[in-house]
Amino acid sequence: MLQNCRRDGSLVWLKENAQVMRDADGRTLYYEGTVEDISAEHAAREEARLSAEQARAAEGEARLSAEQARAAEEQARAAEEQARAAEGEARMAAADAHRAQAEAQAAAERLREALEGTVTAMGALTEIRDPHTAGHERRVTMLAVAIARRLGMGDDSLTALRLAGQVHDIGKISVPAEILNKPGALSEMEFELVKQHPRLAYAILNTVSFEWPVALIVLQHHERRDGSGYPHGIAGDEILPEARVLAVADVVESMASHRPYRPALGMDAALAEIESGRGTLYDADVVDACLAVVRKDGFELPG
Ligand SMILES: [Fe+2]
Repeated sequence: MLQNCRRDGSLVWLKENAQVMRDADGRTLYYEGTVEDISAEHAAREEARLSAEQARAAEGEARLSAEQARAAEEQARAAEEQARAAEGEARMAAADAHRAQAEAQAAAERLREALEGTVTAMGALTEIRDPHTAGHERRVTMLAVAIARRLGMGDDSLTALRLAGQVHDIGKISVPAEILNKPGALSEMEFELVKQHPRLAYAILNTVSFEWPVALIVLQHHERRDGSGYPHGIAGDEILPEARVLAVADVVESMASHRPYRPALGMDAALAEIESGRGTLYDADVVDACLAVVRKDGFELPG
């Protein structure tokens, strides 16, 4: 196979077929043969070779891609398994947290019950010594809680009031019964003695670790809005909202109910007292709520 150049400069592939013609003695006479242009055939062969090479290369690439795809699939499967494992762990952690929360709630509930039991026990002690005070504390608590509900106070305030109301006069255990039940006006000394009862109650209740400011509410239940109350003579917003409610409920119950040293003055007289002290002695909102509780809601103090 030869490559020749045409006159126009293009290349041509030639196939030679020549043989030597000799005489009888073996001398060369001439050459005989053909020269064939096989450019087209050569080009086709070359093209076929190139195509085969391309096909081989493409096959190689395809194999590589398939391998990459398999690796990616494997990674995805591993990631999916990790995610499943993480999900399982998260579920377990959530279950643990839920259990811990439920246990904490149960413990808090038991503590609350124990504290309420403590207060009930204190109330029982008061009742043994002074049945009148115990009944007064129960009725004041009912009215105070009704007022607080009317005011839209939260659950914590209601619980604090329920506890504080039941023991708000526990400090009176230090006041002689003759003074507590004495008909008529008290002497200055006697009144000074009575005025100590919120302090003593505070000292007793402050030893119990309530979640709510029960001791402070009790300490302030004789304070007045204008600062004319006792024991500290604090005024306005210095007095806890629950103590302002307890103060009004205490006054109303005391006046409306029978006392050992005088007959009941009645609910109308009690409401007239808080109305006249509305905004001065007593918190105006609390007075309004108390009036609504009695006049609109039909609240009645039990006997
Ligand atoms: Fe009191």
